[in-house]
Amino acid sequence: MSATLAAAAAGDMQSTWFRHASVRTMTHAWRDRGRDFDWRFSVEMKPLLGHAAIAELPLPVRKFINVQAFHKYLHDVCLTETDVVNPVAAAIAYGRSAAVLPGAMAAEAFSIMVDEAFHSYVARLFSLHIAEVTGIESVQMPSRNALLCAYEDVGRGLPPRIVAMAELLCCCLSESNFTKEILVASRLEGYDPAFREIMVDHLAEGAPLWLLPPRPHPVLVRAIRGTPV
Ligand SMILES: [Fe+2]
Repeated sequence: MSATLAAAAAGDMQSTWFRHASVRTMTHAWRDRGRDFDWRFSVEMKPLLGHAAIAELPLPVRKFINVQAFHKYLHDVCLTETDVVNPVAAAIAYGRSAAVLPGAMAAEAFSIMVDEAFHSYVARLFSLHIAEVTGIESVQMPSRNALLCAYEDVGRGLPPRIVAMAELLCCCLSESNFTKEILVASRLEGYDPAFREIMVDHLAEGAPLWLLPPRPHPVLVRAIRGTPV
């Protein structure tokens, strides 16, 4: 792809971001948080909650476990955005990634960092909101999540160049899977409606991803291979 085409692709991404990004306006979910909070977490997203042993527990215990599921999910979102996605985006923006992209496309990585940091902010605010309305604070959360640990496992013992490639590809794959999970979650019933609104808003922020072709972007492939983009 020529530099001109790459710049045009980046220009499309940028105009899409400016149309869809909600960082300038608070999410619907935050405006609607005055509604009653439904303490049930989605059984589809955490099947253990549907186990007979859980269903037989007294109501306050089930409520505590479900609320902790909300806190844990939101904490995982925070960690994934800031500790997994944004370091990779920053590496792309500064040309330190396995994929050295043309200027306009590298600049696009900053919009990703803005979006992802905002998702962390909303997740943390919503966790605080849940603690306030339920009186159930989050238990001590781990400083790292499974995804972060998996990244390190993949890169252990590999040369820096391969680690950088692995981080970039794993980031693309995990973000794609996470976006699909959000899509599914945004269509589920039986858990807090305001939380589902957060899922819908998060999905809208990822809209530019859905505009990409369903196979690796040629600019990305060439950059990873080390051929001129
Ligand atoms: Fe995100």
